[in-house]
Amino acid sequence: MSDTKNPVVGVLMGSNSDWPTMKRCVETLDSFGVPNVAKVMSAHRSPEAVVDFCTNAESRGMKIIIAAAGGAAHLAGVCAAHTHLPVLGVPMKGWSLDGLDSLLSTAQMPKGIPVATYAIGSAGAINAAISAVSMLALSDADLREKLVKFRTDQTAKSVMDPHD
Ligand code: RP5
Repeated sequence: MSDTKNPVVGVLMGSNSDWPTMKRCVETLDSFGVPNVAKVMSAHRSPEAVVDFCTNAESRGMKIIIAAAGGAAHLAGVCAAHTHLPVLGVPMKGWSLDGLDSLLSTAQMPKGIPVATYAIGSAGAINAAISAVSMLALSDADLREKLVKFRTDQTAKSVMDPHD
């Protein structure tokens, strides 16, 4: 799991079993050169660690937290309760209901404590990273340039001739 010295994005996940999916999130952040730290901690199994991480995130220089969990997916909500930094929630597929349980428990926050919620699984993991990049790019011209290039290249690939 990644751990740079001065992480700007904190990536939390509820279990080691989430890592194969959340690796895609970290790989995306890495591809843009965004310093990040990824940790396994759970709203249910290690709540003190989650509270400690989130209450200290801003003073450690973090600007965004991405939190992924499956099932009764409370991790992103607990993070949001303990920081005013933006929290991006990624529902994991989990072991039943195809992740619909995770999606609803991540998204259905009470008013006043938002969690921006993404698609279930790897699409959500990647998109949460791209959203983090786009938020950071608002005040980082180099990152903005990388993001615009990523989008332009993606558009070009999407209209490529199948015989190329
Ligand atoms: C959640 O329970 C985790 O985020 C994971 O998605 C799910 C299953 O965890 P394990 O039982 O595989 O550790 O808290």
